Amino acid sequence: MRLDRFLANLPQFSHQQARLLLASGRISVNGQSVRDGTHDVRVFDRVELDDETLQTGKSARFFMLHKPTGCVSATADPRHQTVIDLLGEPHKAELHIAGRLDFNTTGLLILTNDGLWSRRLTQPASRQGKTYLVETEDPIDPDCAVCFAQGLYFRFEGLTTLPAELELLDTCKARLTLHEGRYHQVKRMFGHFNNKVISLHRESMGPLTLDAGLAPGQYRALTPAEIAQI
Ligand code: URA
Repeated sequence: MRLDRFLANLPQFSHQQARLLLASGRISVNGQSVRDGTHDVRVFDRVELDDETLQTGKSARFFMLHKPTGCVSATADPRHQTVIDLLGEPHKAELHIAGRLDFNTTGLLILTNDGLWSRRLTQPASRQGKTYLVETEDPIDPDCAVCFAQGLYFRFEGLTTLPAELELLDTCKARLTLHEGRYHQVKRMFGHFNNKVISLHRESMGPLTLDAGLAPGQYRALTPAEIAQI
């Protein structure tokens, strides 16, 4: 929300008082005086008038989880364990998943309460590659790499997938890098070649790589340096 609206919405200030306070330079956001009423204020920002706190600023939280198989990428599910159930954290309901994985897909899952940050990680426009290890039932057709690099037409959505890179690791094993996250995308891409994906594991999202030391079901907080990379 704009800072001028934020101030005017507080019960103690009128629109005019909000404007005057801004002009006086007495309003600070995260310790910096701000006079610009259009300045964007988020729930994570600390807003002060002189030494008086107007908003404390929620802490932004970021976690990497090694998602095991057999659990749902959802915040609630009536039948199955969810990834949220795996976290021993307070206020878990505030968290959302940045890029879901299917029930049986394993690997890197990012959870946060910062929607702007998670959009930067997942939006195709930000060009953050998501890398998957794929095992298929049948040998991988060498034409897959060319076809995935050109983009595949998904009739249901009426769109062509963004160029994706396929690196063959073995007859039935490959590393695939996507730059978007369509519904069941990897399975549908191999499905185009009538080849069933029998195991799928996400290794990385942009600069964030799943720690080798995190066993399935384990998680950790992201470091400030990792958070700043997105
Ligand atoms: N593509 C899929 O098909 N499934 C996933 O879980 C992730 C990407």
